[in-house]
Amino acid sequence: MKVSKKLGGEVFVKLNWSAPLDATWASANQLKVSHPLHIWQLLKCSDRIQHDLEAPFRYAIDREETGVLQSAQSKHQPSIILKKYLTDIGGGEYRCFIKSGRLLAITQRDIRAFYNYMTKNLKQTGKILTLFISEKIIPLLYEHLELDSFVLDLSLKTMDFDGSDGDFSDSNINIIDINPFSNCYCDSLLFDWENELMNDNVRKFWAEHDLILDGVVQEKLYDWSGFCGFLRTRMKENFSPSQFLEGRMSKDLSFDNFKL
Ligand SMILES: Nc1ncnc2c1ncn2[C@@H]1O[C@H](COP(=O)(O)OP(=O)(O)OP(=O)(O)O)[C@@H](O)[C@H]1O
Ligand SMILES: [Mg+2]
Repeated sequence: MKVSKKLGGEVFVKLNWSAPLDATWASANQLKVSHPLHIWQLLKCSDRIQHDLEAPFRYAIDREETGVLQSAQSKHQPSIILKKYLTDIGGGEYRCFIKSGRLLAITQRDIRAFYNYMTKNLKQTGKILTLFISEKIIPLLYEHLELDSFVLDLSLKTMDFDGSDGDFSDSNINIIDINPFSNCYCDSLLFDWENELMNDNVRKFWAEHDLILDGVVQEKLYDWSGFCGFLRTRMKENFSPSQFLEGRMSKDLSFDNFKL
């Protein structure tokens, strides 16, 4: 209760890895909680939390048998994380894929909805996020954790950039979460894990081909070494991908012709 008061009374709850996103049915207020009983209820009702407690390393492989995995397993301690509840995240969330020390892809996080301002501000958003990730996040995570491939979730305060890159400060960006660069763990949303994100030749393919994607608008991203990838958002309101429908990405995104 003390912690929750310190954070403003209402908190967002998760374990070190996952939030109980699948248990909102057991809560009156989504993942916004103010009482220890509600926290217990949410954690107890979530399969995602169950997975983190029972088999958090199920998808982890120590390819070079360096012992890193074993050491991580022995040190791993599940913790309950309480964060200040952010009311203004809304549709300003992006998921960014960083592979081998370079930004590769950014997609809007909530792909169920169309956000007009995201599409409108695509160019500026791409520049701001590329700069922030390439200059601040990539060097920081490498220096402290030797991590060069990861998936970063962040939110950008909703704003109109009125055509200029203007006075943009990093305080307008909230880091939400950092996830493993793994197709077992992390949803690739408007990208395709196998054909795009895991494909070592994809940057070259993207640079040489014009992809027209149904219902998706994309913007080229440039870092210090030139073209690095794409930012994708939904383009129109009648595009409604569902993780339960086969070929949810529409024909263009299913990449039948995308064998390199
Ligand atoms: N502090 C916060 N306040 C309000 N909402 C939040 C907060 N942190 C996260 N959320 C919301 O909850 C969602 C899931 O949060 P988070 O990414 O931490 O969970 P996760 O279990 O790691 O999800 P995933 O498996 O997709 O990575 C976010 O997309 C965001 O909308
Ligand atoms: Mg996560």
